[in-house]
Amino acid sequence: MTMVQTPLHTPVLLERTLELLSPALGGPDAVVVDATLGMGGHAEAILEALPGVTLVGVDRDTEALRIAGERLARFGSRARLVHAVYDRLPRALADLGIESVQGVLMDLGVSSLQLDRADRGFAYAQDAPLDMRMDQTSGRTAADILATASEDELRRMFYEYGDEKLAPRYASRIVARRADKPLLTSAELVEVIVAATPAAAQRAGHPAKRVFQALRIAVNEELAVLARAVPAALDSLAVGGRIVVLAYQSLEDRIVKRELQARSRSTAPAGLPVELPQHRPEFRLLVRGAELADDDEKARNPRSAPVRLRAAERLREAA
Ligand SMILES: C[S@@+](CC[C@H](N)C(=O)[O-])C[C@H]1O[C@@H](n2cnc3c(N)ncnc32)[C@H](O)[C@@H]1O
Repeated sequence: MTMVQTPLHTPVLLERTLELLSPALGGPDAVVVDATLGMGGHAEAILEALPGVTLVGVDRDTEALRIAGERLARFGSRARLVHAVYDRLPRALADLGIESVQGVLMDLGVSSLQLDRADRGFAYAQDAPLDMRMDQTSGRTAADILATASEDELRRMFYEYGDEKLAPRYASRIVARRADKPLLTSAELVEVIVAATPAAAQRAGHPAKRVFQALRIAVNEELAVLARAVPAALDSLAVGGRIVVLAYQSLEDRIVKRELQARSRSTAPAGLPVELPQHRPEFRLLVRGAELADDDEKARNPRSAPVRLRAAERLREAA
């Protein structure tokens, strides 16, 4: 057996995640989906804490699946791993012959594995080809997008996905530079961004941070996929089933919040004296607003600093 060489990061809000999922996972044949398996940190803890549970682990990153596969091998057929984008969850479950599940975990964003591997091109601090695909087996790379998007598309991408105030400036410099020579590496992109940043704006963190975030979101179509995946995950839950979502940036958290809130509201028309069963909320929220990591966890694990946890439980079948 090959040994795992990658340092395994500490899973974020692990105890709270287990506490929220466990009440749904006590029955015989309970199935939990880890839709963002990563290096399998949360998954391993779930399989250890709940010996009756089968876990379906999904990731779009084949390298993450390989590492998690080694880590979870000791659980045998209790861990079933699937290479898929998480909005394909219904298909993945159908292929496994699973009709509904008792728990879903989504720990969104990139893994420390992806950030730490210089050759994946996610990090502005390390020079590498501009790839940024979580799934390196398909799709457009960041270099492809930088070569083909119009100036207007780049500007909107930097504004919307990176909240970058200098978006117009960066977009126009990128278009000017690529007319001369294509942008192929993270160092080349950083150079263009730094040169285009006025001295007064150099103070607020690394100038390329938001552009890199925006490109990563665009390359992996993260928001569109998430907007399809959350409803699909909710639909896959049996009555009593629970979902826990950990989001690390506000664009993702907003999508999660809207969907969970909408599904936890009564749809009874205003003025109706009695709420009919089909108008009752399908879900109930398990936490008020979003929960954050406490200071202790933030100090131990800086990755947890921006996390927003939301959770819900299915109350009844869909109408
Ligand atoms: C923050 S990491 C998960 C870490 C994991 N909870 C652990 O404890 O090791 C997020 C993972 O989700 C995967 N991912 C992100 N978006 C995805 C998507 N749309 N479909 C499937 N996997 C996705 C990434 O490839 C990454 O491995």
